[in-house]
Amino acid sequence: MLILSTPEDVARFRQTGKKLALVPTMGNLHAGHLSLVRLAKQHADEVLVSIFVNRLQFGPNEDFDRYPRTFERDCALLEAEGCTAVLHPEESTLYPQPQQYFVEPPEALSDTLCGAFRPGHFRGVCTVVSKLFNLSRPDVAVFGLKDFQQFLILREMTRQMNHPIEIIGGEIVREADGLAMSSRNQYLDPAQRAEATRLYRLLQTATARLKAGDTWADVQAATQAELQANGWVPQYLEWRRDDNLQPCEQLPDVASRLLIAAFSGNTRLIDNLSL
Ligand code: PAF
Repeated sequence: MLILSTPEDVARFRQTGKKLALVPTMGNLHAGHLSLVRLAKQHADEVLVSIFVNRLQFGPNEDFDRYPRTFERDCALLEAEGCTAVLHPEESTLYPQPQQYFVEPPEALSDTLCGAFRPGHFRGVCTVVSKLFNLSRPDVAVFGLKDFQQFLILREMTRQMNHPIEIIGGEIVREADGLAMSSRNQYLDPAQRAEATRLYRLLQTATARLKAGDTWADVQAATQAELQANGWVPQYLEWRRDDNLQPCEQLPDVASRLLIAAFSGNTRLIDNLSL
């Protein structure tokens, strides 16, 4: 497996002209990321995984400094998965100073859900993913659907910025008790970890109630009350259309899902479930 760190390394790697799938990550890989690598392999001859903790998408009080950096372990996992190459650029390579150009997503998609609580987050995500696209010129890029809003914003960015790249979403991978896999799960203490499975159970109950005809107002209020009663600080629980993130009040004739974000102590967890 090749380790690429400079634009020249990537240019040399791309000379083969083989069909390439890019899987952008911030490292600290878990089974969810590895499932994206397997999905990527189904769509391309070669798989490039980028590992870069992107300062630009973290707010001033967020976990950029303590975000786990486990490069050696990540590479061992990727090698075992048959990944072709890892792109591990220096910050100064991706962000030559002064960094004055940014990719700004539209407010309708980015100022809601996670974006409403993390100002500038999706601008940071779009900017770094554009740079990764420009450097590696992949044919396909794979993103996890746990970050459903991110997936939608990046798919729309790709379309509007004319990147000739197919965007593929990988299903959420869950622990045996239902908790969606996330690098942030390791911040949870044992009691919080045991409680964390409630997020998925609440989503399951809420989607079942909506399908059975309960009103959204009742379902939303009951779900948030149960979260609060069990020590969570909810950020949002929303029911949105899959195609444009517009709110739903009753079952739409397009795909839709519930999306949730809540704090357990200092750890912010997100999850979502299709109806
Ligand atoms: O989902 C992530 O891990 C990050 O937001 C991404 C897409 C790698 C951009 O930094």
